Amino acid sequence: MVQLKIQYLTLLVLCSWWSLEGTVGDPQLFFLKRDCSGFTAPNLSNFIQNLNASLDDLTAQVSNQSKHFATAKATSGTDPVYAMFQCRNYLSITDCATCLATAAAKIRNCSTGVNGARVIYDGCFLRYESNDFFDQIMPRSSILCGNQTANESTAFSVAGQQVIMDLQIATPKITAFYAATKTQAVDGAIYALAQCAETLSQDNCLDCLSVESSSIQGCLPNTNARAFDAGCFMRYSETPFFADNQTVDISPFLKQGRSSSKKWVIIGGVVGGAALVAILLLLFPWRRRPQSPKRVAGGNILEATELKGPKKYKYSDLKAATKNFSEKNKLGEGGFGAVYKGTMKNGKVIAVKKLISGKSSKINDDFESEVTLISNVHHRNLVRLLGCCSKNQDRILVYEFMANNSLDKFLFGKRKGSLNWKQRYDIILGIARGLTYLHEEFHVSIIHRDIKSGNILLDEEFQPKISDFGLVKLLPEDQSHLSTRFAGTMGYTAPEYALHGQLSEKADTYSYGIVVLEIISGQKSTDVKIVDDDTEDEYLLRQAWKLNERGMHLELVDKSLDPNSSDAEEVKKVLDIALLCTQPSAAMRPAMSEVVALLSSNDLLEHMRPTMPLFIESKLRPHRDIFASTGSSTSNGTASDSIVPAP
Ligand SMILES: *[C@@H]1O[C@H](CO)[C@@H](O)[C@H](O)[C@H]1NC(C)=O
Ligand SMILES: *[C@@H]1O[C@H](CO)[C@@H](O)[C@H](O)[C@H]1NC(C)=O
Ligand SMILES: *[C@@H]1O[C@H](CO)[C@@H](O)[C@H](O)[C@H]1NC(C)=O
Ligand SMILES: *[C@@H]1O[C@H](CO)[C@@H](O)[C@H](O)[C@H]1NC(C)=O
Ligand SMILES: *[C@@H]1O[C@H](CO)[C@@H](O)[C@H](O)[C@H]1NC(C)=O
Ligand SMILES: *[C@@H]1O[C@H](CO)[C@@H](O)[C@H](O)[C@H]1NC(C)=O
Ligand SMILES: *[C@@H]1O[C@H](CO)[C@@H](O)[C@H](O)[C@H]1NC(C)=O
Repeated sequence: MVQLKIQYLTLLVLCSWWSLEGTVGDPQLFFLKRDCSGFTAPNLSNFIQNLNASLDDLTAQVSNQSKHFATAKATSGTDPVYAMFQCRNYLSITDCATCLATAAAKIRNCSTGVNGARVIYDGCFLRYESNDFFDQIMPRSSILCGNQTANESTAFSVAGQQVIMDLQIATPKITAFYAATKTQAVDGAIYALAQCAETLSQDNCLDCLSVESSSIQGCLPNTNARAFDAGCFMRYSETPFFADNQTVDISPFLKQGRSSSKKWVIIGGVVGGAALVAILLLLFPWRRRPQSPKRVAGGNILEATELKGPKKYKYSDLKAATKNFSEKNKLGEGGFGAVYKGTMKNGKVIAVKKLISGKSSKINDDFESEVTLISNVHHRNLVRLLGCCSKNQDRILVYEFMANNSLDKFLFGKRKGSLNWKQRYDIILGIARGLTYLHEEFHVSIIHRDIKSGNILLDEEFQPKISDFGLVKLLPEDQSHLSTRFAGTMGYTAPEYALHGQLSEKADTYSYGIVVLEIISGQKSTDVKIVDDDTEDEYLLRQAWKLNERGMHLELVDKSLDPNSSDAEEVKKVLDIALLCTQPSAAMRPAMSEVVALLSSNDLLEHMRPTMPLFIESKLRPHRDIFASTGSSTSNGTASDSIVPAP
């Protein structure tokens, strides 16, 4: 009896202690996001049986076996269901079970029979699909930034950045892919958490967290933020959301490993190379424009809501400007919709893009904020978005008009051969600068996902301007469901993105490398030649690798180029960079800022060469397969996410 009382008392004390911290007895049901697939399972009764069975299985594993992470599958009949549940490890099993029950009710509340869905709370994550997705990450990340700025904002940002980077490095090396840390900052502590699905590979966990960490850094110096996607979760807050004794000591994972794994050595080499580049750039001010600092203190998502809104165009004006969207005015048709040339009453020439419209009206919510974000991207190598217009289901974007149309026309089209080497070099450098801005210098990292020569426009002076960035989120749900298929173009898509939906800035680096090969060679990346002495088909990337290997790189150069105009050394340098960018391993590809540094100097690549990893032929073969299978493998995304600024 006495014992019972003491236990009861302890419990009481504990409860009041914990409720202060907001942890035990709190399943953390703050709702972050739900996505329901747009497709319905063909055999409803079979599907519901399987869904019930797999959700019951998850519930049993959590309640009876005290698991924080569980997967289940029910595959009888024609409509299998694969399900995954992940609870934050600092929650008690009781809380996890509550979170699961809540999540299951929420996910069943998608319209009946949808073949995939996921729901994310602070406390847990639940997802099911009609195929096995357990080792996949989604190529997206959503963020939710808090609405308060830290008191000592600069110091907080610096400390916050460090915490986030440390978690990104350490978490993939910890067995449970889970880390929670408390770090003393100037003005209180920072509590932070990172977690990957336990069924991911270490590489996938790292890839997923690098996307999350770059988005969550955009929230600093806000006092709290969350970044989430289907494979991993990150959160930080000045307010504790787990108890102090739930933290994981990550310091061993920060020191160790960097030298124990070959891969880290190579990354170290590249990073070291980049650091060398940075030092040299600081020492020798020959570069015209210094790199602006990367999203350190200034990067604050709150700014996004304070950004200047896009200009609103009247539908009637755009209709008149494009002669009622006539075929004659049509400049082209892309993945996002048709583009028309328009002339406004004041004589100003514009490009008018009519986005593919969907039945769903959900895009409305995202349209304004996304367009505001894109219209605030200003860089001389990025096409300016001037404004927008919505009428009924139509969503229209108005861009600056580019006199010289797109790069592909100059490489393979009617005007093939009209660009000299100097112009090509400037285009290669300009695209790299534009991408660097999108990835590293704008306050939110934007991954383009569809870099190809058809998306590079040229102005009167043949300066390149990248178009179509930031549009993926504006697609209607039924389209974005197939985002992988749509967002990549055959031949340009990085293998890890095409095959597994793993998206990072490095997917753009890969596509950039392919475009560079096209610029050098004047050949389409997708053209396949049958070569006599080889049973294998010859395509651009393979050919480039082989010629480079044999020291015959000049063979690759576009035959329509005046041989005297190109500098053999420069061709070699650019080709080396293109091959660095198209390596099968995303981690080994350089960041775009490193590409800019390499292109802007004459002798730095010398320093890079020794660390340049070999491009192995056997790695090329599976890679070749992606050209056949692009888009078919990971079209199960259910997300329609967007960057969520604080209310
Ligand atoms: C649907 O699934 C149920 C149960 O698995 C099965 O009995 C039924 O024949 C299926 N119906 C069709 C049309 O395939
Ligand atoms: C599936 O589960 C739901 C909710 O628990 C229940 O209402 C429904 O009857 C179940 N269906 C089948 C076929 O077991
Ligand atoms: C889990 O526990 C419940 C009740 O405690 C029991 O009914 C069920 O059979 C158990 N399931 C498994 C798989 O052990
Ligand atoms: C399910 O949806 C209905 C209507 O959309 C809503 O009223 C209800 O609260 C939802 N239930 C849950 C558990 O979210
Ligand atoms: C900030 O968000 C919290 C809840 O997340 C809300 O209660 C509070 O009113 C918000 N503050 C401001 C200034 O918007
Ligand atoms: C920030 O400043 C406000 C007002 O000076 C103060 O009330 C608050 O406690 C401070 N926050 C922290 C975390 O010190
Ligand atoms: C955490 O600390 C509380 C007291 O603050 C203690 O009761 C609990 O057992 C500790 N948990 C762990 C996992 O050590």
